Order: sequence, then C-alpha cells, then structure tokens
Amino acid sequence: MLEVGVTAWLRRVYPALSLPLVVLFLFDDQRIHPSYGMTWTRKTKLALQMLRNTRRIKTGTSYKAHLAIAAKLLETPPSVRGVVVECGCWNGGSTANLSLICDLVGRDLIVYDSFEGLPAGEPNDKYASPDSQGTYRGSLDVVQENVRRCGAIERCQFRKGWFRDTLPHHDEPIALCFLDVDYQASLHDCVVNLWPHLIDDGHLFTDEYVHVDYCALFFSERFWKQYFDTTPPGLMGTGTGVGVGQYYLGPFDWRINPTSIAYTRKGSSGWWDYVREDDAT
Ligand SMILES: C[S@@+](CC[C@H](N)C(=O)[O-])C[C@H]1O[C@@H](n2cnc3c(N)ncnc32)[C@H](O)[C@@H]1O
Repeated sequence: MLEVGVTAWLRRVYPALSLPLVVLFLFDDQRIHPSYGMTWTRKTKLALQMLRNTRRIKTGTSYKAHLAIAAKLLETPPSVRGVVVECGCWNGGSTANLSLICDLVGRDLIVYDSFEGLPAGEPNDKYASPDSQGTYRGSLDVVQENVRRCGAIERCQFRKGWFRDTLPHHDEPIALCFLDVDYQASLHDCVVNLWPHLIDDGHLFTDEYVHVDYCALFFSERFWKQYFDTTPPGLMGTGTGVGVGQYYLGPFDWRINPTSIAYTRKGSSGWWDYVREDDAT
C-alpha cells in the first residue's frame, strides 16, 4: 500500500523534479537562432511558466511536449515566414503555452477547434467511440479566458467549427502545426488540408503517436500518393514519442502516462525503397 502511495506521489512530482534536465536536454541546442536571445535564464523561465500553466489549466498534453515544439520554433530563423497552427485545444492549456512561444519568436497562432468537443465518431474510424461525442469540450469563452490569464492572447486567432468545414479555407503559410485531435477522421482532415500550406522544412507535430495505426498515416504510400502525389514523410517518435525526459515504454499501459510528442518535417522521408539486388527482377 505504501509502495503504491510513493509511486503515485513520484508520478505527481516527477514532471517538476525533472524540469532542469528537460530544459538542459531540449535546449542544449546549437541550432537555436541567436536573435531570440534565449539565455539559460529565459529558457528555464519559459519551462517553469509552461509547467505552471499545465497545472492551472486542465491540459491533455505535457509541458515537455510543448517545450519540444518550442525548441523547433526557436531553431526556425525569424526570416522564415509562416504562422503556427493548433488543431484541437480543449481548455486552451496547450494554446496558452504555444502562444507564449509564438510571442517569443514573433509569430501568430491560429487555433482551430469545434469548441464543442469531439465530433460524433464515424463508423469507419478505428478508434472513434460512438459515445464520446462532446468529450474534451472547452467553450470559446473558457479557452480565451484561460489564454488571456496564462498566455499571450494578442498572438491568437480562434477559428471555430468542424475541421472539414474550416480547414479548407486556411490560406496562410504554416511554419509549424500541432495536431491533437484524437480521431482518425479528424487527423485525416487536418493533414489533407494543412500539409499543402506547410512551408519547406516546416514541422508538423502530433499528439497521436501512441497508436501505431494513427502513425501509419505518415508512412502510407497510398495516402501520400493519392492526396499529394509524393512519398510519405515518416514520423519521429512513432509509438513511444520523442525523448523528452520521461519514459513511456509503449502503448496500452495507461498507468505509464504518455507525456511526449511526435513530429515530421516537410522534406523528410519515411519511404522504404530498398530491394535486395539478388531479389530484384
Ligand atoms: C484531446 S483534445 C485537445 C487537447 C489539448 N491540445 C491539450 O493539450 O489540452 C481534442 C480537441 O480536438 C477537437 N476536435 C477533434 N476533432 C475535431 C473536429 N473534427 N473538428 C473540430 N474540432 C475537433 C475537440 O473539440 C477537442 O478540443
């Protein structure tokens, strides 16, 4: 019993205890552009603010995942054009953190959500459960209030509606997008509509990395041929997430809380094109 209590306590305090190491590993990055003036004090302050925000706002992703996104935005030179896009914001905890980093790097943040929670699951969506419609609902008022309190709301534009209706109208170049949308149909709508706007070398981050079936989209030759007439880009962190200083030993043991993130980049390659010479006909 005591052991269970200690484990639960450690789980609660570990995100804060590990903060210095996370800052060190994620931000000991020679590619961070000098014009952002990111001293170790500023890097630590950003991490502390992000950790605090995920405690003040009930948030579905870890501040460590937000810091990994921050690292890539800090690597992107200010001369590179493009906004940051978030699809799926729930209560606005991830939005508040993304807005902080957008403010640091001088980019706008466009937030797409129904603000009514998840849609009805489609029958051919492998992981959509019919009774989860409305789950993760954060109203636009609540989200804006949270971002006003904890982030940089002047950086944000909020676009309300179902992705299939709103995303086809997106037209700004995108330097980085973050997709945390839970359903295969939603992920499909985001990638189909936003990928064409992602700039060369732009990053696409996703929280949908635990189910390898979701990640398969980024390796599907059929999908990339059909929609973009190209080969798949792959996905860093497939199944377990990229290293952000917390272990997650694989899907389906939900006691080990996944706290990481996965990403791909426009221009990266996840295409198997090797055939043994002996076997080639
Ligand atoms: C898991 S929550 C996002 C959590 C948030 N990123 C965080 O870290 O706290 C998923 C969000 O995606 C939104 N969503 C999912 N599918 C959608 C769709 N097809 N159209 C609009 N919003 C959608 C839901 O409304 C919900 O806010």
